[in-house]
Formats: sequence, structure tokens, C-alpha cells
Amino acid sequence: MENIIEQIRADALAEIENASSAEEIKALSVKYVGRKGLITLFLRNISSLPKEQRPSAGQEANVTKQLVEERIEEALQRIEGLSLNSSDSIDVSLPGRVAIPGILHPISQINQQISNIFKRLGFDIAEGPEIETDYYNFEALNFPKNHPARDMQDTFFVSDDIVLRTHTSPLQIRIMEKTHPPIRVIMPGKVYRCDSDLTHTPMFHQVEGLVVDKNIGFSDLKGVLTTLVHQIFDEEISLRFRPSFFPFTEPSAEVDILCVICRGKGCRVCSQTGWLEVLGSGMVHPAVFENVHYDTSQYSGFAFGMGVERIAMLKYGIDDLRKFFENDFRFLRQF
Ligand code: PHE
Repeated sequence: MENIIEQIRADALAEIENASSAEEIKALSVKYVGRKGLITLFLRNISSLPKEQRPSAGQEANVTKQLVEERIEEALQRIEGLSLNSSDSIDVSLPGRVAIPGILHPISQINQQISNIFKRLGFDIAEGPEIETDYYNFEALNFPKNHPARDMQDTFFVSDDIVLRTHTSPLQIRIMEKTHPPIRVIMPGKVYRCDSDLTHTPMFHQVEGLVVDKNIGFSDLKGVLTTLVHQIFDEEISLRFRPSFFPFTEPSAEVDILCVICRGKGCRVCSQTGWLEVLGSGMVHPAVFENVHYDTSQYSGFAFGMGVERIAMLKYGIDDLRKFFENDFRFLRQF
């Protein structure tokens, strides 16, 4: 009799050992310890054994049943542990997750670089509202109503008298209303124009600069802006000051750098001129000083304004401005 239960045990353990799926194990559970399983039947038939064999056969069968049940449980755990779907197991063969560190947006990087250059030159940094009155955006800057120069700016109107600022120049007025010379300040911020193509977006960034003091001349403007351009691009780059017009500066000059693509030969990027415009500037117009009640016999000054995206495009050779606003990490992480 004991040979029978020993045989059953040996078979059961070997079959459990070789099983490779949860289904097989479950079938073995039915075969050996289920309601009609071999061990169960053996236990049920013990009463038909000769009396003296019953205790040891019963004991043997119970021990076997327990052992087989334990092995089935272990085998199930082993197989589920290999299964990828099991939620309480760790698949050590899966590739790890690499944490990708963030970076500053290229526009923020250029903004910081510009701020650092001016901090070293002793400038303060100021900010102001993006929603402006007609007075600050135009009127006080010497753009009379119906002046054709207002057309240059593709204004977003909030109401007749309120606009999204089209440039950072209104901050010149706000600063001068609140403080007295000497003034040395830069004013970075977002500006808005109703315009959208490869080189224009409805929102972009500018940095405005303003210097007012006694004896400020055009040579100061040239010195500061030359330093700026050399530090942003490189010390060797050629630049030129080209006469221009803004209602709030007189005389006015636009600053060009030698085309970074063709080095002056003429190409598509510089429209065959050999030069690229990087900023607008000029001596503060006396009418602007009068609007903020500065004494024009004592004070003079200069102002400048530049587009941050434009500088980033020239510096990094990017041909589509809209890339800065799509937030595709494959683009952004290159800077
Ligand atoms: N505000 C001008 C623009 O947006 C730039 C500028 C600023 C020109 C200051 C002269 C002085 O085009």
C-alpha cells in the first residue's frame, strides 16, 4: 500500500517540476489533490485497507497531500513571476527609464545672456505691462494719431484706447515718468503684432534699452551697442550703423551685422545685401523728453530695441521662427 502512495508522490512531484505553464499546474492540481484526484481517492479508500495498515497509510497520504499542495503553490508563483503581466512582480530584463533633464528654452538662454552683458555694464532690469494704453504705446512716443508710422506695427486692439503692446518702447516712458536721470536700464518682455509667417509670430520677445544722463552722445550709443553685438555674436564680427527712422528717436540708426551665412557676399538669408539687421536704436527724441517733463537743455540719451527670436535665429542659424513655439523637445534640447 505504501508503495502506491510513494509512487503517486514521485509522479506528482516530477510532473509539477516539469510543468511550464499555469494551465498545466492547475491540471496537475485537479489530477492529484482535486475532489477526484489520486491522493484524495487514496485517502477515501483507506477504510478498505487491513486495520493495521490504516494509520501509517493515512499519515503517509496526508503528508503527501500537503507536500503536493505546497509544490503546486510554489510552481504557480514561479511561473507567474516570469509572466510580464503579473503586477506584483519585477521584470529585471526590462530596459531602465532614463530621466531626461530639462533645459532652458533657447529664448530664455539668449535673454539671460543679454541681461548678463548689461548687468556687467551697470544697467538695471525693469519690466512692465503687456496690455498698454494708446498713450504709452504710441502717443507719448511721438506717434501722433493717424501718423503713418502706426501702420508699421500691425496692432492688436483690445479697445479703441487699449492695445497689446507692439514693442517694449512704452517702458521708456514708464521708467522716465517714475525716475530721474541718470538712467541705465534694459527692459525685456513679450510684444504682440498681428503678423504670422516664417519670420514673424504674433507674439515675440524684445529687449529695450534706455540710457539718459548729462552729455550722452551718439558715440555712447555706438560704444554700448558694439560691445553688445560683439559679446552676443563674436568679437570679430563686423557691424554697421545705418540711418533709419523711428518717431521716438532722432537721429535713428539700425544696426546690421555682416551676414553670418555668406559673410557679406550676398545670399537668400540677407536678401543679397550681405548684411543682417539686428536692432533699432537712436537718440531719444526731444518730444519724448518733453512728454515726461525732462529738461532737454540738461539731458540727452539713447534707446535701442532688439528682437530676441531674431538674434537666436541668426546666432544658431535657424530658418523658421515658429520652431521656437512648437516645443518639440528634439529641437529645444540642441541648445
Ligand atoms: N521699438 C522699435 C521697434 O520695435 C525698436 C526701437 C527701440 C528703435 C528703441 C529705437 C529705439 O521696432
